[in-house]
Amino acid sequence: MTNYNFDRVAAQYDATRAFPPAVKERICTWVLSRLPKDPAITEIGVGTGRIAVPFIERGVRYSGFDISQSMLDLLKAKVGDRPNANLAIADITQPLPLPEQSQDAVIAVQILHLVDATKALEQVRRVLKPHGALIWGWIEHGAQAPNSRIRPQFKAFVQEAGGAFRTDYNQQPARDLLAQWGARAAHHTVAVWQGQETPRQAIEPMGQKVMSSTWDIPDEILAKAAAKTEAWAEAEYGDLDRPLGYELSFGVDWYQF
Ligand SMILES: C[S@@+](CC[C@H](N)C(=O)[O-])C[C@H]1O[C@@H](n2cnc3c(N)ncnc32)[C@H](O)[C@@H]1O
Repeated sequence: MTNYNFDRVAAQYDATRAFPPAVKERICTWVLSRLPKDPAITEIGVGTGRIAVPFIERGVRYSGFDISQSMLDLLKAKVGDRPNANLAIADITQPLPLPEQSQDAVIAVQILHLVDATKALEQVRRVLKPHGALIWGWIEHGAQAPNSRIRPQFKAFVQEAGGAFRTDYNQQPARDLLAQWGARAAHHTVAVWQGQETPRQAIEPMGQKVMSSTWDIPDEILAKAAAKTEAWAEAEYGDLDRPLGYELSFGVDWYQF
C-alpha cells in the first residue's frame, strides 16, 4: 500500500483545504456537546490541525498522531506548547502510544481511506473507553462545485492516457468490522457552508499532485490529463479564473461503542 505521509504537500495543505474559522469552532462545539465533561480525545492522522486546533485552544485533553513531521510541525506552530496537547509522530496502524481504554473519543477525518483501516480501527478500539466514540468525519463538495464536476473529467483523461486515479478504497470492510464489534452508527451533517473556487483552482491540485489520489500517476500522464481538463473546463465555464460559489458540508458518522 502506498505510504500516505503528507510531508510532500504540507506547505499547500492549508491553502487548499482549510475550513472557515466559524466551521472549525462549530465542529468543536458540536463534538464536545456530545461527550462527557472533560473528555480525553485522540485524533488519528491529525495533520495541520484543521479539526484539532479549536479543541487544543479550549484546553481539551487532546492527543494527535501523524506520520508526517511537516504536517505536525505546522500544527505545533499554530498551538505552541500546551500541557493539554500531546502531539506526536506515530503510524496509526501500529500500537498507539496511549494506554488501553483511556480515550472518550477518537476522531478520524479524511484518514481511514489512506491506511490499512482494519489495523487503525483495532487501535481505535484498544484505546477507547467502554462506551467511547469513534467520530469518522469527511468533507463533501456539493454537486455543482467545480471540483465535483471537474474531477470526474480529470479522472477520465488520466484513464484515457493509460493511468489510474486511486480507486481501490472500499469503506465497507471497515464499517462491517465496526458493526461486528457492536458499535452503533448515526450520521450527522455538522456544518454546511459556502465556498468559492475557480475552475483552475479545482484542476491545479490534481495536476500538481497535491491530492493524494494522484500520487501514483506518472507525471507525463498527469500533465496530459491536466491540459485536456483545462481545455474542457474552458469550453464549459468560459473562464478558468472566474470564482464560482458552491456548497460544502462536514459530515460525521458517530460510532458509539
Ligand atoms: C488528508 S490528511 C487529513 C488531516 C486531518 N485529519 C484533516 O482533516 O485536516 C491525512 C493525514 O494523515 C496522515 N497519515 C497518513 N498515513 C498515516 C499513518 N499511517 N499514520 C499516521 N498518519 C498518517 C498524513 O500524513 C496526513 O497528515
